[in-house]
Amino acid sequence: MQTELSTRLGIEHAVFGFTPFPAVAAAISRAGGFGVLGAVRYGAGEELARDLDWMEAHTDGKPYGLDVVMPAKKVEGVTEADIEAMIPEGHRAFVRDTLAKHGVPELAEGEASGWRITGWLEQVARGQLDVAFDYPVKLLASALGSPPADVVARAHDHGILVAALAGSARHALHHRDAGLDVIVAQGYEAGGHTGEIASMVLTPEVVRAVDPLPVLAAGGIGSGEQIAAGLALGAQGVWIGSLWLTTEEAELHSAALTRKLLAAGSGDTVRSRALTGKPARQLRTEWTDAWEDPDGPGPLPMPLQGLLVAEAVSRIQKYEVEPLLGTPVGQIVGRMDSVRPVRAVFDELTRGFERAIDRVNRIAGRA
Ligand SMILES: Cc1cc2nc3c(=O)[nH]c(=O)nc-3n(C[C@H](O)[C@H](O)[C@H](O)COP(=O)(O)O)c2cc1C
Repeated sequence: MQTELSTRLGIEHAVFGFTPFPAVAAAISRAGGFGVLGAVRYGAGEELARDLDWMEAHTDGKPYGLDVVMPAKKVEGVTEADIEAMIPEGHRAFVRDTLAKHGVPELAEGEASGWRITGWLEQVARGQLDVAFDYPVKLLASALGSPPADVVARAHDHGILVAALAGSARHALHHRDAGLDVIVAQGYEAGGHTGEIASMVLTPEVVRAVDPLPVLAAGGIGSGEQIAAGLALGAQGVWIGSLWLTTEEAELHSAALTRKLLAAGSGDTVRSRALTGKPARQLRTEWTDAWEDPDGPGPLPMPLQGLLVAEAVSRIQKYEVEPLLGTPVGQIVGRMDSVRPVRAVFDELTRGFERAIDRVNRIAGRA
């Protein structure tokens, strides 16, 4: 599955895999795709350096990338504590009451919340970039907007391609004007932060808008047929996130969450602001329902909501409180019905792609 972009990056298949887990990213790269490690869960610096060292040792010299959440708006001198202070007491009470209603235990004394949003602060993202530029990262991706001009220039100085997610042709044009090299057209079906335009409509719109920049199709891809569809719509490859969550290498650390993912159908996700303050597709749970309740306070804007719920999410995950337990995931969750190694999932994608091309040729009478 070769395209101009895969050749440029020296990979065998134009399949890009976003994941928060180093073991998954490394396995995708080893399988012939392009693993992209999500950095949002790291603080600045050390933890990321440790995992990039690990990636270096486990990618067999194959290329990989890093995804950093770079907020488009710069807020000078604001700390996490300043942002915490802006959270209304009524919202804190709502979180306490919702957890109490479900009997969610407290974290142990001194136990830190394992899920922070610090990666959404620009100063933290910049610290991560200082670390990343010491590694042979081949692509830097940015969620939630184009990275600032100095970051793009620095990446280019290091020979690193810069990509960003776009949920509309307008976003994509903004990325192009910011000097980016690759646009990830991410449709409504996708897991995580997502816009309102479905991949079927979005991909060709973005391809047309930014031509000749390469576009990756993202959102709802979990089979070779869907990869073939992405290429047919003009993409130079695909960008997949959800599918890896049920691989053996994924470190979800929750058998209950894996069970929920395996059982979920394509209609069991919701685009909700409950987790971060911006609409993000995730499993529908009693937690997301609570934030939709017209009698509740509703979610705060980003980044307040993420800080507000960080400890609650850690408690729900740690104690596996099933009705509340969720994760960002896309509609393709309906297809995720077994736990397999990344290699098996990847090989099925590439075999399915070949079958899909053959089938299209047969249907069109060209075989
Ligand atoms: C668990 C999870 C976490 C995600 N976190 C991020 C992130 O931090 N940064 C980012 O650019 N995209 C993130 N995404 C979106 C993916 O990069 C990708 O665009 C999306 O998963 C593609 O659609 P799919 O889920 O249908 O494969 C996340 C997706 C999932 C499922």
